[in-house]
Amino acid sequence: MGHPLSLHGHLKIFTTIDEMRAASRALRGAGKRLGLVPTMGALHEGHLSLVGSARAQCDAVAASIFVNPTQFGPNEDLAKYPRPFERDREMLEREGVELVFAPSVEEMYPAGAVTWVTVEDLCSKLDGRSRPGHFRGVTTVVSKLFHVVEPDVAFFGQKDAAQVAVIRRMVRDLNFAVEIVVCPIVREADGLAMSSRNAYLDAKQRREALVLHRSLMRVEELARAGERDAAKLAAAGRAEFENAEAVRLDYFEIVDAETLDPVADVSDGALVAVAAYVGATRLIDNVVLAPYR
Ligand code: PAJ
Repeated sequence: MGHPLSLHGHLKIFTTIDEMRAASRALRGAGKRLGLVPTMGALHEGHLSLVGSARAQCDAVAASIFVNPTQFGPNEDLAKYPRPFERDREMLEREGVELVFAPSVEEMYPAGAVTWVTVEDLCSKLDGRSRPGHFRGVTTVVSKLFHVVEPDVAFFGQKDAAQVAVIRRMVRDLNFAVEIVVCPIVREADGLAMSSRNAYLDAKQRREALVLHRSLMRVEELARAGERDAAKLAAAGRAEFENAEAVRLDYFEIVDAETLDPVADVSDGALVAVAAYVGATRLIDNVVLAPYR
């Protein structure tokens, strides 16, 4: 039988809000700068890079694992979303995470909960347009996580660029006392952005999924070569999807990274964002074009 405390020996799992809050308050009360990495579990190197940044910038790291039902649409993958809790726990322990918050749905959403946090306007751009209600679920659960954990800093991935814009705006508009740090996209060796949903892909779909990254690289290459017209760049990106039969493009947009509104010209920099269905699996990716000087 293994010792209950392994390797780092400091990982504690909390399933109730009261216990989680008490533990994080104890750490912060001891003067520690606390970082939070919110996740839905099924962890991969992308998530672990956020943990790595948190470890580098904070004295203690908390992670949450909660498959948040309110951010899934009625026909989305809530039921089949992978939940390899024991594996996730081990990964977080190895990475030196101290606190894990893994509440039940009932703990997070007690009967009668009717209060939402909504970032008007932004929540219906990009993924929010394709997934009505999605960002309302994200901002509501992230608000709750901030209230429960009370972190000094919270870490999010650039992979979900629209989510970053929505959360930054929420934090600003509602004066959350938390600093938001955004970490770069972690990719597989062939360029596919890591995602818990990549596990749904069969071998053929896995190959076809590369078109997302390829389309972004094409746009980046044209922009580097001097093309500044966003419409032309977007058309070139979309054209990459014409030969990908099993892939259905959801959106390919070139927008301002803060407002998520389309830009006509990329001279001041821009977010190039793509979403596509590979079979039934919805994947997203993006690249940020630097301002041209
Ligand atoms: P989830 O999809 O589990 O992602 C958790 C965090 O990991 C997010 O900030 C996401 O952007 C980041 N991430 C995922 N893949 C990444 C990659 N390849 N490179 C870098 N970062 C990556 O995003 C959510 O969960 C939820 O919406 C959540 C914020 C937890 C609210 O429920």
